[in-house]
Amino acid sequence: MRFPAADPTRRSTAPFVSDTGGSMSAPIDEVAAGVAAVAIAQDSPDAGGEQVVTPWDVAGGADGKIDYAKLVDDFGCSTIDDALIQRIEKATGCRAHPFLRRGMFFAHRELDQIVTAYEKGEKFYLYTGRGPSSEALHLGHLIPFHFTKWLQEAFKVPLVVQLTDDEKFLWKSLKLEDARRLARENAKDIIACGFDPRRTFIFSDVNYMCTPFYLNVLKIAKCVTFNAARGIFGFAGESNIGQIGFPPTQAAPAFPDCFPHLFGTDKKSLRCLIPCAIDQDPYFRMTRDAAPRIGGHKPALIESRFFPALKGESGKMSASDPSSAIYVTDTPKQIKDKVNKYAFSGGRLTVEEHREKGGDLDVDISWKWLNFFMDDDDELKAIGDAYGSGAMLSGEIKKKLVECLTPMIVAHQEARARVTDAVVDQFFSTAPRDFPSMFGELSGDAPAPPEGPVSFQGGEHLVASNAPVAGKEGGGAEGGADTAVQAGGGDAPLSKNALKKLQKEKEIAEKKAKKAAEKAAAKAQ
Ligand code: TYM
Repeated sequence: MRFPAADPTRRSTAPFVSDTGGSMSAPIDEVAAGVAAVAIAQDSPDAGGEQVVTPWDVAGGADGKIDYAKLVDDFGCSTIDDALIQRIEKATGCRAHPFLRRGMFFAHRELDQIVTAYEKGEKFYLYTGRGPSSEALHLGHLIPFHFTKWLQEAFKVPLVVQLTDDEKFLWKSLKLEDARRLARENAKDIIACGFDPRRTFIFSDVNYMCTPFYLNVLKIAKCVTFNAARGIFGFAGESNIGQIGFPPTQAAPAFPDCFPHLFGTDKKSLRCLIPCAIDQDPYFRMTRDAAPRIGGHKPALIESRFFPALKGESGKMSASDPSSAIYVTDTPKQIKDKVNKYAFSGGRLTVEEHREKGGDLDVDISWKWLNFFMDDDDELKAIGDAYGSGAMLSGEIKKKLVECLTPMIVAHQEARARVTDAVVDQFFSTAPRDFPSMFGELSGDAPAPPEGPVSFQGGEHLVASNAPVAGKEGGGAEGGADTAVQAGGGDAPLSKNALKKLQKEKEIAEKKAKKAAEKAAAKAQ
């Protein structure tokens, strides 16, 4: 079943809309495909009702709706067709997630290439993120994390989750210490989605900004001119320079050598797939253009529509308007009251008219939300048929939605209550992993979080054991490791001494990991 286009529902912070037009000077192919996106960003709804989609602002066109077909054209990404979904099902042996079957995740960049590589036995990792700007996530924020969890389990691959406390500090009126605290709080909600710590690493930018990460940030930054950044993101004279400099920080985790404790030090050891809503596309257009210039693979993307706001098509889910959204902290009573009071209805004015014409599925929020969260295809279809024909009334479809959301949110809250500080530390830990153990089937339950302090500063350069080494076979490496990196033409390759040092660090890390494993085994006996 394909689902009609969903709606704009993002927060409305001031967009970086240039009033002069962002000319592009960098010889950037995919950025060129985003020229139309520049036009979008520059035409605010007030200036002619054009849609605006940037990482910081989303607004529909004159009718309040996002025209996703236009967005795909303007951004230069591709739509996901049934053939690609079938290939994913075949490669993973898993039925596609409802978000994929029903067209919520609808666009991509080189997802087909990830699937082809996977079919050949190549490894990849997942990368997604959250900008910690509020205490509680709304249901829209759960979309990429639920889907990422499905991807991780279907493909059996590691995941890194970036918490951009720096981004939110730079963009919002938020103190840095509050952004950092929210990063940890939001991490609890992300962990509550069910990720396995054995192959999931969560990090806050402020905490984790270590040498391997910063090296990538610098190399990417050198590839992007201010003109290009203005073109992609709409930066203007009044943008603070922290904002202008931020995009490489979101780009860098798309390269595996940012995480030596997970993936080793080879920039091409693994490909990367990024699940997100389509608002994040500008960051990764920029990343993909920089990738070959810094010696990395272009990251692939799988992108979703926006989960619509409670009050309807042109509404926005906002932390400052609790009636605009349902949050993961809402009680069953709040859920029921909000749905009944605020969920925009496609029901008709009178029962007679409703019975005659049927409910309007194109605008009804209960129907749209059920499409996201009701697993059972048959039940969903029966509801659509009954509501669309007028046999089911507005109050009845709202009741179905409340029955669907309440257990899901209660289960989330229970899972979150089990996420202690020690569990958060376990996900943030930079202890080196055994590379092969993060792929394939995991046996048994995840281990309990370690007692005592864990390392999460990220500065130690500890290298995962058994990670692929530059130039050698492993994980689809094509030999283009950091040794061959030339960022913007100015970088020297790593010296022999530096390589030796990295190798030494790797050996020490391996020894440490072996000792820890022996200790744990001895303890278990
Ligand atoms: P943030 O915190 O704004 O959003 C987190 C994730 O949720 C998606 N999203 C939505 N998806 C569906 N419907 C909605 N209404 C909706 N609102 C938000 C976002 O696209 C995002 O995937 N800068 C990022 C954090 C980040 C990131 C990343 C995101 C860092 N690295 C890599 C994705 C991939 C941010 O502020 O997201």
